[in-house]
Amino acid sequence: MDIKESTSFIDPFTVELDIEQGVMRDAKNHIVRKASDMRGHYKDAAALDALADRGDPLHYEVFEVPVPEQYGHLQYCISTLQPGLVGEECFMTKGHYHTVIETAEIYLCLRGEGYMLMKTSDGKAAAEKMSRGRMVYVPPYWAHRSVNTGAAEPLVSFCVYPGDAGHNYGDIETEGFPKRVFSRGGEIVIE
Ligand code: PA5
Ligand code: NI
Repeated sequence: MDIKESTSFIDPFTVELDIEQGVMRDAKNHIVRKASDMRGHYKDAAALDALADRGDPLHYEVFEVPVPEQYGHLQYCISTLQPGLVGEECFMTKGHYHTVIETAEIYLCLRGEGYMLMKTSDGKAAAEKMSRGRMVYVPPYWAHRSVNTGAAEPLVSFCVYPGDAGHNYGDIETEGFPKRVFSRGGEIVIE
């Protein structure tokens, strides 16, 4: 067997997912983002500050069993985004480009309702609907952010992407996304 220096050899393994709860049971990494972690991302900054002051509710969690961050491996996670509004804007993830920008990602929606907002650095924008059984393909070069439009259910997704992709949050903090998702009088509006 010819083992490449760039791609570590590891033994096979299995993880168990709780699809209803949106939890990876033996996750080694558990990333938790609350309202106060989302400053700068929502249109209504005052509404976010008020939310952070009123109990700082959970926004989303990411569960991972990490594998080597190398070409050839596949990173995967469960992403569980709570329902809620900041002013009229639906709860969302921070969003990011991949550090290795020519890497794609697959999001398989397991539960809930929402959108995947995507953008490129030269101004293209896209929104794909997410609901149980829909799989969104995020092509190379597209920044991506998920948004929960459900009134009461979490948006649960299983994500897979190349091992060496990495997360670039800085450019999105500067650029933002061109489209936002609002709930107005029970209607979901993307604008
Ligand atoms: O790699 C991904 O795109 C996902 O696993 C996200 O990291 C997850 O949905 C959380 O979003 P973000 O990383 O933008 O905070
Ligand atoms: Ni990603």
